[in-house]
Amino acid sequence: MAEVVIVPTADAAGALVAAEIARLVRARPDAVLGLATGSTPLPVYAALREALTGVDVSHVRGFALDEYVGLDPRHPQSYRSVIRREVVEPLGLDPDRIHVPDGRLDGIEGAGDAYERAIAAAGGVDLQLLGIGSDGHIGFNEPGSSFASRTRVKTLTRQTRADNARFFDAPDDVPRHCITQGLGTILDARHLVLLAFGAGKAAAVAGAVEGAVTASLPASAIQLHPHVTVVVDEAAAAELRYADYYRETWDAKPAWQGL
Ligand code: GLP
Repeated sequence: MAEVVIVPTADAAGALVAAEIARLVRARPDAVLGLATGSTPLPVYAALREALTGVDVSHVRGFALDEYVGLDPRHPQSYRSVIRREVVEPLGLDPDRIHVPDGRLDGIEGAGDAYERAIAAAGGVDLQLLGIGSDGHIGFNEPGSSFASRTRVKTLTRQTRADNARFFDAPDDVPRHCITQGLGTILDARHLVLLAFGAGKAAAVAGAVEGAVTASLPASAIQLHPHVTVVVDEAAAAELRYADYYRETWDAKPAWQGL
């Protein structure tokens, strides 16, 4: 079962996960991080600035989960731009070691396989950060995605396009297609860290952690993984049936165990 950590604020979650990432990078300077976009992981990236102070990050490698298809990579909302702005530049990572799926239309048919090869050549992802969509998607794996899926082009649901419209000038500007690591790709990472904040994520979190394992709720795939940490605030934890048990477990956890 996933370890569920209920924290008072998103900043507390950021500090907790950043400390774990810093521990990983100290132990393994060329650690492979799985990077997520959206607003949820931002407190982690913010906390990492301090947590990585004095740590050599020049060899850290990274793979983003997903990208819009057909959006100019220089567009400020392309995930390539977001990852550069929110992660690579502030943390001083080597841009050549940080990869984002190539969503350009030219060559899109081979982009998924190329990304899979790059992840495999890096030896796989050590720690994968995940947010969760209000419909239970992870990466851009919308409901119905195969648990065996690899990096490929998907069509965004109306709900996801509406959720992400806030980042664009007009709802119609949100691309219709994306390229995303598959659920099978994500499950290959050695440690999954799923974050969720706010009441809008409560139902998706409860379904992912405690509901049926079903392609209708792609995030429920995390139940198939042996090492998962779910970090949520009180609002996102509101529908968890075993919340008291998670709190007791966390309170009694020996410090040496880490996440
Ligand atoms: C997008 C991303 C997901 C992210 C989700 C939730 O759809 N592709 O990786 O988890 O948004 O976004 P937010 O964290 O802003 O709620």
